[in-house]
Amino acid sequence: MSVSKRIRTLCGLLAPAKTFADVGCDHGYCTQYMLENGLCEQAIFSDVSKGSLQKAEVLLAPYVAAGRATGVLGDGFYGVPSTVDEVLIAGMGGSEILSILTDEKHGFLPKSFVFQPMLNADKLRRWLIENGACITRDFTFQDGKYYDVICGRRLADGEAKQTYTEMEIEFGKENLATLPTAFVGRVEKQLRDVERYLQSNLQEDSRAELLRRKARLQEAIQK
Ligand SMILES: C[S@@+](CC[C@H](N)C(=O)[O-])C[C@H]1O[C@@H](n2cnc3c(N)ncnc32)[C@H](O)[C@@H]1O
Repeated sequence: MSVSKRIRTLCGLLAPAKTFADVGCDHGYCTQYMLENGLCEQAIFSDVSKGSLQKAEVLLAPYVAAGRATGVLGDGFYGVPSTVDEVLIAGMGGSEILSILTDEKHGFLPKSFVFQPMLNADKLRRWLIENGACITRDFTFQDGKYYDVICGRRLADGEAKQTYTEMEIEFGKENLATLPTAFVGRVEKQLRDVERYLQSNLQEDSRAELLRRKARLQEAIQK
């Protein structure tokens, strides 16, 4: 398969698991990777869009026929048991991922997860650490655009919650500790954008907010 660096990065973060679910699977490449490489015994691939699910069903047809993969047409965790070992949700907004995790009927925090939110990674981080997750990897990478990926697992019984500062919630603990090139590149771009906005005619409170943001961005990439 010829897939993007983004997909290859996500696949590289998926751990071996008995059961795996790819929610919002679209083409199904990550499920194919898990099955092809013997990283899971059983896979569920699901999507809310019929057209997307059909693409994955074509790609994964041999595994479906062999009883190792099941396609589900549905919203969020519909058709995904909370006992599943590992969940991937990639390419959706952080708020959308959050509404899947907290859905009254089907929501749950997976035992192990890889999330790649397109927006609002901070919102997702905050919810995860406050709701029983341990974040194990959390970094920015670049494939044309910049992407965040957050991996983790459910806390064990009695295991202490992680502590995050507001800066770590906003930017990611790993990013601040290791300053990956992609993270620094994105923050530098955001700083250039802030500088440009600051040149325009702004209300006092907007200018003050932009100056606070500029200070946080500068702090995020200082060595
Ligand atoms: C941009 S694609 C990303 C596909 C794939 N996960 C990836 O990372 O390449 C987002 C997919 O999520 C599906 N989707 C969006 N909201 C969903 C939801 N609430 N439940 C299930 N699938 C959803 C869309 O139909 C679409 O196929």
